[in-house]
Amino acid sequence: MKFYVTTPIYYVNDRPHIGHVYTTTIADILARYHRACGDEVFFLTGTDEHAAKVVDAAAERQLTPLQWADKNAQEFQDTFARLGISNDDFIRTTQERHKAKVQQYVGELMQTGDVYLGEYEGWYDVGQEEYVPDNKAKEYDFKSPVNGRPLERKTEKNYFFRLSRYGDALLKRMEEQPDFVQPDERRNEMVNRIREGLNDVPISRISAGGWGIKVPGDDQHVIYVWIDALINYLSTVDTDDRRHWWPADVHLVGKDILWFHSVIWPALLLALKRPLPRQVYAHGWWKSEGQKMSKSLGNFVDLEKIDQYVATYGLDAFRYFLASNGPMGVNDSDFAHAKFVEVYNADLANDLGNLINRTLSMIGRYRAGAIPAGSAPDLQAEATALTKTYQEAMARLDLHGALEALWKFVSRGNRYVEENAPWKLAKDPAQATRLDSVLYNLAESVRLISVLVAPVMPTISKQIRGQLGVEETTKRLADEIQWGGLAAGTRIGTAAPLFPKQP
Ligand code: MSP
Repeated sequence: MKFYVTTPIYYVNDRPHIGHVYTTTIADILARYHRACGDEVFFLTGTDEHAAKVVDAAAERQLTPLQWADKNAQEFQDTFARLGISNDDFIRTTQERHKAKVQQYVGELMQTGDVYLGEYEGWYDVGQEEYVPDNKAKEYDFKSPVNGRPLERKTEKNYFFRLSRYGDALLKRMEEQPDFVQPDERRNEMVNRIREGLNDVPISRISAGGWGIKVPGDDQHVIYVWIDALINYLSTVDTDDRRHWWPADVHLVGKDILWFHSVIWPALLLALKRPLPRQVYAHGWWKSEGQKMSKSLGNFVDLEKIDQYVATYGLDAFRYFLASNGPMGVNDSDFAHAKFVEVYNADLANDLGNLINRTLSMIGRYRAGAIPAGSAPDLQAEATALTKTYQEAMARLDLHGALEALWKFVSRGNRYVEENAPWKLAKDPAQATRLDSVLYNLAESVRLISVLVAPVMPTISKQIRGQLGVEETTKRLADEIQWGGLAAGTRIGTAAPLFPKQP
């Protein structure tokens, strides 16, 4: 099977923050999971560079737009590299490979009549050089909301996309394939908006200083940045050696940009007669200490903060927090320091760290560091149930569900230690075989956990395996999760705390 996963491409006028890092980390977890399953994976992220605000931000710094874009695109790439993101490509919309494709597709759409030159009429704010939406113009008594001067009625030639043609086809797709847009609540919002009726949408702007991709055959207009940006998912793989990747399997996006991804983009693809992506998944937003992140509050979980968490708790612990407590699903999440510490101490230091630590130290103490043979598969049935729940959850992109099931099993392991009290068994030579079994069940559970935790915590997974004395896995997940994979006689490695307790 193939698995092609994408993140939104990020605006280069800002530096990366938790919103960008989150979606890219979730995509990374899915990519790693599918690689472990033996799927062929293509994982794409990148930057969206033709926004007008890039021109302004560059001018303030006496740079050309491209110089400014270069700098920030590099910052995104450096950040993702530092965070261990395993993307297969990084697309920048200023790259020739992308620009040529955008012009090609828009050209195709002009041929089919899906793109036409029309007239746009609206209320224009001369001072701001922008159109004010009708309802807002009315609200401000047809004066500029910024400087109070009268708005002008203005018409302008514009290229339009015939979105109105595709409403029925989109509704049909959403009905026939309910997981096309997820979660359900978000899809229903989109369905309701489509039912209100779709208007054709302008897809070009009068070129300001030449920043943007020119409409083919018309130097006056550049292609609207959203149309340019959406095309990245296709342009990147529309080459002879990559064509088999299309359609994408999942476009991961935030809830605020779902309309573009579940309506505009599929409609463009229908017009281009290309297959639609299998799924668009919109997650919620992060808040920061209970409040919406905003420039004015200055409360962004920014790069500096992210780096601090990674330095203090480790990259994998940071990833675990994002995956287990992040806004996959319809709800928003709170990035709160106290919550982070609580999750770190409870789930990682106590539950997981403890299970590994006691398992290894008992094998060291009672069996001189060699994994004993176990005849009673006490935990096998629960392990099998776990792997099933985990895999089904991952297929639904339900990371919370997958991790919840896994941590239930971790707790089960800790309870199993208490129930069987190996320290008592060790005192009675007649219980030697029983002790062998108990230790084997624990060690095998730890091995299984190392496999299932790997997509979220790849480095920790390797460390667990090193401490257990098993190789880094090369087998497929389906084989690795079979109970009994751990060979008796395996010598354990050196134990060391994986999650030092934090104040
Ligand atoms: N360039 C467009 C996307 C084009 S995709 C063809 C864009 N870029 S962005 O940099 O502004 O934002 C990208 C993503 O960050 C969006 O998915 C958005 O939902 C996400 N987030 C921005 N703030 C966020 C939070 N506070 N929490 C979680 N995600 C957030 O939009």
